[in-house]
Amino acid sequence: MADTETVLLTHLLRARPKFLSADFLAGRLGISCGEIRRALDGLSEEGLEFREVPRRGYQIAREPDEVNGALLRAHLSILDCAAPILCFPQIDSTNSEVERQLANGRRLPFVVLSSKQTKGRGRMGRKWYSPEEGNCYMSFAFQPALLPDQMQRFTVWMGLSICYVLNRKFALPVMLKWPNDLIIGGKKVGGMLSEARIDSDRMRDLTFGLGINVNSNCELWPESVSVTATSLRMFTGKRLSINAVVATLVREGLKAYGQYCEGGIDEQFMSRWETYDALKGAQVVVNPKSDALFGTAGGIDVDGALILRLEDGCRRVLQAGEVTLGTRSTVL
Ligand code: BTN
Repeated sequence: MADTETVLLTHLLRARPKFLSADFLAGRLGISCGEIRRALDGLSEEGLEFREVPRRGYQIAREPDEVNGALLRAHLSILDCAAPILCFPQIDSTNSEVERQLANGRRLPFVVLSSKQTKGRGRMGRKWYSPEEGNCYMSFAFQPALLPDQMQRFTVWMGLSICYVLNRKFALPVMLKWPNDLIIGGKKVGGMLSEARIDSDRMRDLTFGLGINVNSNCELWPESVSVTATSLRMFTGKRLSINAVVATLVREGLKAYGQYCEGGIDEQFMSRWETYDALKGAQVVVNPKSDALFGTAGGIDVDGALILRLEDGCRRVLQAGEVTLGTRSTVL
């Protein structure tokens, strides 16, 4: 059963731009007008703002620039998605919280979300810079009947699905830079980290972590990060409703997982890859810091591995690696 705040916000979001009176809301929720006002006061303390007009009622005037449990659930309810979500104002890492929840026996699937991570983790043991100002960090916990060697393809599929929904629903030209970077306007706007626990040859569970820069100002970040990073707001110049964006990503992530497990996605996988491949035909350097490989990105194979056409014309298939745009002359 949804809580009072979630139901209240669902009504107000659905009604927008119309106002809803305390009487109407009280009738709908089966509680008193006083309880409606107390719930609105509580939500105001969490950063929501309401406009109140005599004889007309209430309207949401401003949504907070962070993940808010009740507001996110309301946006999810409008999308008809009853995802089990766990929201934290701050966390070490949403992927680590999934591990703890799994150790405590939480039923799968579920999604952990936060607006701030103190120990965000990236690929290859790196840190993921996770400031608290308009970003979202989320981890999906799944129990797929997949073989461990499916992880690469699964991550690419999830990334393509995120690109698809951001392009289609928000007109944001987000692309996937193999294997796990989300790119907009040539800069990194998000990253993905899949981690699995393996039992003999099966995945016991799979955590899919996604960090996305929504409304942040990357110019305020350390230079080492800000040179290559951007946010959706910095690219478009417009602030987005972070809870609406995140609700859409949660729904799409769960849907994409279901589609992947059901099978039969091969055609859609390749057509999305064709559309959202940020490296298409580009000259790239793989692993520039050690044993660099120079060549042209030639798409991916059925397992989601990158096909590289080397300078001598040979074809190499890469399961993992760090890819940057460039040639021998720009790197050496
Ligand atoms: C990368 O590009 O290196 C992958 C970054 C993945 C970051 C996300 S943020 C949510 C989840 N929790 C983490 O600690 N990491 C992932």
